[in-house]
Amino acid sequence: MKIVTIVGARPQFVKAAVVSRAIAEFNREKGEKVIEEVIIHTGQHYDANMSDVFFEEMRIPRPDYHLGIGGTSHGAMTGRMLEKIEKVLLKEKPDAVLVYGDTNSTLAGALAAVKLHIPVAHVEAGLRSFNMRMPEEVNRILTDRVSRWLFCPTETAVRNLQAEGVESWSEARIYNVGDVMYDAVLFYQKIAVPGREVSDILQEYKNNFYLATLHRAENTDDILRLASIARALDDIGRKIPVVVPLHPRASKRIKENEIKFSYVKIMEPVGYFDMLTLLKNCRGVFTDSGGLQKEAFFFGKPCITLREETEWVELVAHGFNCLAGADYEKILNLEQTFMHRDFDFSVSLYGDGRAGEKVVEILVQNHKADYLI
Ligand code: UD1
Repeated sequence: MKIVTIVGARPQFVKAAVVSRAIAEFNREKGEKVIEEVIIHTGQHYDANMSDVFFEEMRIPRPDYHLGIGGTSHGAMTGRMLEKIEKVLLKEKPDAVLVYGDTNSTLAGALAAVKLHIPVAHVEAGLRSFNMRMPEEVNRILTDRVSRWLFCPTETAVRNLQAEGVESWSEARIYNVGDVMYDAVLFYQKIAVPGREVSDILQEYKNNFYLATLHRAENTDDILRLASIARALDDIGRKIPVVVPLHPRASKRIKENEIKFSYVKIMEPVGYFDMLTLLKNCRGVFTDSGGLQKEAFFFGKPCITLREETEWVELVAHGFNCLAGADYEKILNLEQTFMHRDFDFSVSLYGDGRAGEKVVEILVQNHKADYLI
């Protein structure tokens, strides 16, 4: 069986690392190369600290194809990816295409494949924010709509797809395999060694600091929201240090709008090992990232989400996560109340840490050879 894996943006490297490892493990157990994996990197994220570091640390096989498409508008990026991915698929003729999450690379990969009648497997299917202004919501709805294997991380995701009637009008099948990001944390936290800068931070702040990240277009591209969040983090930083590994998009906007920080430690984006170390040692997390909300939970840290809604509704329902949007007062109030509560994180919400293995088993059992290009 030949699988083409399509990645491009930072969170996808983490997710693909888990399934790639499971594929290699499956082949090892069988004593032969039952599955051949071909990796395409679209180039959506291209800086070394947004891409290469993940391949190195997580030992992801080097991409077989690097398309070099990034740093442009949504339409141009998705269109160019579609064209170049199609060329590779025509050459490779895979039995299935594996896509992850909700980025432009996900949608381009799924579209290119389905138009060639190659079945698509979507890892992290079924998530919904019900906010169609988010590019991610558009990407995930359209990707789910054309996928044959819908690998959900949670029961909520399964219910979302069932409510859309997916199985009644298509050949698609829904599976709750758990979250591959949970597998990743379980495996990599054992071998994560921080770099120099993060080691120095731990030396200085011990475990008395908050971790914050910011990258969503809805926050970075709206100056009022960006300024409000920045002011809130800076005010919190007066009492408890706030460490912010800053995404290039947010960094650019902060410079353009001349926003200044006095009490926040801004860093370049960090690799996976540094991030795991920061998560393990921080007091709590402020973020607009989807992945980091869950990773906070895996490390038993409360999370204040800088968005109006979240796809990870079970975290809010269990009281581990609070939505603050970009509201200055709300962020400050929640820091003073919610962040200081006692939490019991012992509930299991994201599977048993074997999501990657399950994806591989299901793909091998269910793939049919009648989907030839
Ligand atoms: C993308 C995803 C988002 C995901 C996020 C993770 C889409 C629509 N969005 O958002 O769902 O949560 O990745 O980080 O696909 N840039 C660099 N260097 C890089 C990468 C990007 O400078 O290595 C710059 C780009 O030039 C661009 C900006 O950052 O100006 C945004 O990058 P882009 O890939 O468009 O979207 P993200 O905000 O990263």
